[in-house]
Amino acid sequence: MSTKPILLDVNGLSVSFATDNGPVQAVRDVSFRVHEGEILSIVGESGSGKSVTLLSLLGLHDRKTTRVEGAVSFKGQPILDLPASKMRAIRGKEIGLISQDPMTALTPVYTIGWQIAEQIRAHETISARAARLRAIELLGEVGLSNPGEAVDRYPHQLSGGMRQRAVIAMALSCNPSLLVADEPTTALDVTVQAQVLDLLLRLRKDFGSAIILITHDMGVVAEVAEQVAVMYAGRIVERGPTEAVFDAPLHPYTWGLMASIPPLTGKRLSRLTSIPGMPPTPESIPPGCGFAPRCLFTRPECADRPPLRKSGEQAALCVLDDAERPALRRRALPQEELA
Ligand SMILES: Nc1ncnc2c1ncn2[C@@H]1O[C@H](COP(=O)(O)OP(=O)(O)OP(=O)(O)O)[C@@H](O)[C@H]1O
Ligand SMILES: [Mg+2]
Repeated sequence: MSTKPILLDVNGLSVSFATDNGPVQAVRDVSFRVHEGEILSIVGESGSGKSVTLLSLLGLHDRKTTRVEGAVSFKGQPILDLPASKMRAIRGKEIGLISQDPMTALTPVYTIGWQIAEQIRAHETISARAARLRAIELLGEVGLSNPGEAVDRYPHQLSGGMRQRAVIAMALSCNPSLLVADEPTTALDVTVQAQVLDLLLRLRKDFGSAIILITHDMGVVAEVAEQVAVMYAGRIVERGPTEAVFDAPLHPYTWGLMASIPPLTGKRLSRLTSIPGMPPTPESIPPGCGFAPRCLFTRPECADRPPLRKSGEQAALCVLDDAERPALRRRALPQEELA
């Protein structure tokens, strides 16, 4: 357990949207904590509620159609009910967001330098000239090779990787104590992905920022995160220290995710196991365990809401108990025997 102070504390967060067919619940009773300087990864398939969780706790949802319940505090201050203007002041200054699509973070009609400088000036009293110099410095820090020249480029004049770095520079412009990165590497090719992950790690080291990293890639989780939360159908179905979760995952859904990681060492399997079936849409999540329809080990009790089972700092929402779990896990993860 981290001895550092808690930076972000999320308790029982639920999010539902008003639709023509009535309310649709996309996030259900989600709780997690991030300590200062820690990297938490939220992992799960498309549609599991990762972005909705983060965007709603940052106040970036449409307040007219979205209902957000639960309690969220940042540095000890409750933030869910803050007026939009107060929340805007926290975002960008205390919390930097790297959104899922870098093009939505950047405006095509202004140079990246101008956009970074404006972001700084929205939160600090600083001259235009000083803000521009700071923008150049930030572009250098995120690894753009010629920041003095890049600063005057428009977003479309940059490659995907450079654009993502520019977005990271913007998110970092006010030295946030928390950086929220929603799939920052998905759109990038593998080499650039690795560079951006290295960059995030270096930033944490240099600035001490905590990071919430959303991804659907278990390989990325293993590489950078200290803590992991696995989301499925709007719920966190397993969470814990990354090492513990990788050593002995508790939830059958996590087993499925692990089985789909290509093995790096040992004998190659002839084909990769992936989880058969599709995740439910928020309208069709069954009562009880949301994963039951796809789970290899479903039993009648799964129709009820699963209990939270703990093992040290790890926890999972599943009926399986400690005595029966290892044998089932060996069936679900035969790679372990090949390692
Ligand atoms: N404004 C909205 N109104 C209705 N449903 C929504 C709205 N925003 C998101 N959803 C639904 O909520 C669910 C969770 O979406 P979310 O964007 O959080 O998924 P995600 O885990 O981030 O997926 P991905 O990996 O594809 O980014 C999805 O089924 C999505 O269609
Ligand atoms: Mg998303």
